[in-house]
Amino acid sequence: MAITYSFNFKSYIFPLLLVLLSTHSSATSTSITDRFTQCLNNRADPSFPLNGQLYTPDNSSFPSVLQAYIRNLRFNESTTPKPILIITALHPSHIQAAVVCAKTHRLLMKTRSGGHDYEGLSYVTNSNQPFFVVDIFNLRSINVSIEDETAWVQAGATLGEVYYRIAEKSNSLAFPAGVCPTVGVGGHFSGGGYGNLMRKYGLSVDNIVDAQLIDVNGKLLNRKSMGEDLFWAITGGGGVSFGVVVAYKIKLVRVPTTVTVFNVQRTSEQNLSTIAHRWIQVADKLDNDLFLRMTFNVINNTNGEKTIRGLFPTLYLGNSTALVTLLNKDFPELGVEISDCIEMSWIESVLFYTNFPIGTPTTALLSRTPQRLNPFKIKSDYVKKTISKQGFESIFEKMKELENQMLAFNPYGGRMSEISEFAKPFPHRSGNIAKIQYEVNWDELGVEAANRYLNFTRVMYDYMTPFVSKNPREAFLNYRDLDIGVNSHGKNAYVEGMVYGHKYFKETNYKRLTMVKTRVDPSNFFRNEQSIPTLSSSWK
Ligand SMILES: Cc1cc2nc3c(=O)[nH]c(=O)nc-3n(C[C@H](O)[C@H](O)[C@H](O)COP(=O)(O)OP(=O)(O)OC[C@H]3O[C@@H](n4cnc5c(N)ncnc54)[C@H](O)[C@@H]3O)c2cc1C
Ligand SMILES: *[C@@H]1O[C@H](CO)[C@@H](O)[C@H](O)[C@H]1NC(C)=O
Ligand SMILES: *[C@@H]1O[C@H](CO)[C@@H](O)[C@H](O)[C@H]1NC(C)=O
Ligand SMILES: *[C@@H]1O[C@H](CO)[C@@H](O)[C@H](O)[C@H]1NC(C)=O
Ligand SMILES: *[C@@H]1O[C@H](CO)[C@@H](O)[C@H](O)[C@H]1NC(C)=O
Ligand SMILES: *[C@@H]1O[C@H](CO)[C@@H](O)[C@H](O)[C@H]1NC(C)=O
Ligand SMILES: *[C@@H]1O[C@H](CO)[C@@H](O)[C@H](O)[C@H]1NC(C)=O
Ligand SMILES: *[C@@H]1O[C@H](CO)[C@@H](O)[C@H](O)[C@H]1NC(C)=O
Repeated sequence: MAITYSFNFKSYIFPLLLVLLSTHSSATSTSITDRFTQCLNNRADPSFPLNGQLYTPDNSSFPSVLQAYIRNLRFNESTTPKPILIITALHPSHIQAAVVCAKTHRLLMKTRSGGHDYEGLSYVTNSNQPFFVVDIFNLRSINVSIEDETAWVQAGATLGEVYYRIAEKSNSLAFPAGVCPTVGVGGHFSGGGYGNLMRKYGLSVDNIVDAQLIDVNGKLLNRKSMGEDLFWAITGGGGVSFGVVVAYKIKLVRVPTTVTVFNVQRTSEQNLSTIAHRWIQVADKLDNDLFLRMTFNVINNTNGEKTIRGLFPTLYLGNSTALVTLLNKDFPELGVEISDCIEMSWIESVLFYTNFPIGTPTTALLSRTPQRLNPFKIKSDYVKKTISKQGFESIFEKMKELENQMLAFNPYGGRMSEISEFAKPFPHRSGNIAKIQYEVNWDELGVEAANRYLNFTRVMYDYMTPFVSKNPREAFLNYRDLDIGVNSHGKNAYVEGMVYGHKYFKETNYKRLTMVKTRVDPSNFFRNEQSIPTLSSSWK
């Protein structure tokens, strides 16, 4: 096994370790695991023993523990790099011990909350380094306070659990976050977090008021003790570069007791390109109470020819009469009628939006088993100018040429345009009409199939260049995409990081993130392929 260290730890005595690792790699990594485990057990608070929470590849349940939160089967291959240890933390002190011991033993640490990282970075590294996973799915308490309309939510909770616990106490409070209930709070909130309340209330991070973070020294900090800069960084800059988020305190938002949903379908034969062109003219300007998404995929028509199906899944914070009146005025081309609309409670709309059949009990939101698991690839883009009818027609032709293409257009505007692009690391605010999500799912396992589909999604992305943002071509951090640049943390890590850093955060926020990083984690302990690098000496 060739172990290459490209990371730059000037202060560590690396050469010795390198020799040990490269000459006796398997024996040495066993003993590294032993020494690391010993350190963990020594450090653990005796009232919260770590015994029984440590899984090495020798434990028979290691594969099932690892696989339990692999949410992209592209990273469930025998060739996928595996950790040398998994710690299923039961208590924050377990994470503190892991950080301190990993630093001592110079091991690469991965933090996994819900495991939905699109590139698997919470349990995979492409750096050839031995690594371990701190899995915090057990840290999932949720304490909702109706009096002050807030909740403390641990990072291992899922969005479905958060929604369920809020709705359990109130039918007029909610939280703006993603639409997939199995997504974890830890990755989702720290990376921004958007969902169908975005046009009314902004992102998850726009509604976070406090946090608990374990820093590189193993210290447990809150907003006050970490300071505003670090709090800013972990509300949209990704937690992974700065520490381990244990919990967030969120501000709940008000929703009507009755909301309205629909999900109408229009195919190419039903003037989809005209509707799409109109959508892109109005979607970001519609009432803030309305979130009207537009998705495209390829289906066969009744003649067996490929055609495009558009779906328009919608949430409206009001009743169906008001919704239809509003759409007849602003978007009559869609042709929505009262009979398309369904009135329900907000929590039922969460189930509807994630495709559970009407009438599914809300306890389904507590299930940690996703409705579907398969290999996939996601990419993102931002649209700042309208796209013509012909433009949409050409996009549809390209989708038909390639396989399994799905494009989802998420409307921006509303509250999103009112918040400064510097308020949080997430910079995609006013001036954006929509974000595109490219999604390719497939069923075949293996690297060969993956490469074929990865190529299709890249071809589609290239094709979209004239329609989307440029300089930089912006991207959404929670839609992690290693195609848009990686950091080997070499000499020019700051410059290397600009490639994806400017896409995810734009220039000013990227720079501020690197400054926070340099202050709180100067040795770059918390890192991955797209983490925030420290400022290199030439930039100081
Ligand atoms: C099916 C599906 C639907 C999605 N829908 C949406 C959506 O509607 N809106 C949206 O915004 N995004 C959505 N996403 C993207 C999702 O928000 C991100 O993948 C998010 O990072 C997942 O968080 P996680 O905790 O589940 O993932 P993980 O894989 O556990 O973590 C993701 C990243 O965060 C780091 N991390 C995890 N926990 C912590 C922690 N406690 N402290 C510090 N760092 C941590 C990990 O190391 C990793 O780098 C979706 C993803 C999937 C797979
Ligand atoms: C894993 O195996 C080791 C050695 O047999 C054992 O001490 C430990 O308790 C096991 N861990 C778990 C979680 O079962
Ligand atoms: C992941 O791979 C393992 C080993 O091939 C397999 O047993 C398991 O079913 C896979 N997980 C899923 C969800 O398919
Ligand atoms: C919720 O309250 C319980 C009981 O007081 C406490 O143990 C837990 O840590 C709290 N969770 C959060 C996230 O504050
Ligand atoms: C498509 O648009 C044309 C022209 O505006 C219109 O006559 C026709 O009825 C529309 N077709 C459908 C299925 O809506
Ligand atoms: C469409 O038809 C082709 C064959 O003509 C078939 O292979 C494919 O599975 C069909 N696609 C869908 C989505 O039904
Ligand atoms: C629907 O909402 C509108 C606007 O909020 C309100 O005026 C109207 O009375 C409501 N209609 C019904 C049937 O509840
Ligand atoms: C990628 O897919 C395109 C479109 O099918 C094809 O023309 C091209 O040869 C493929 N490239 C690779 C490297 O497979």
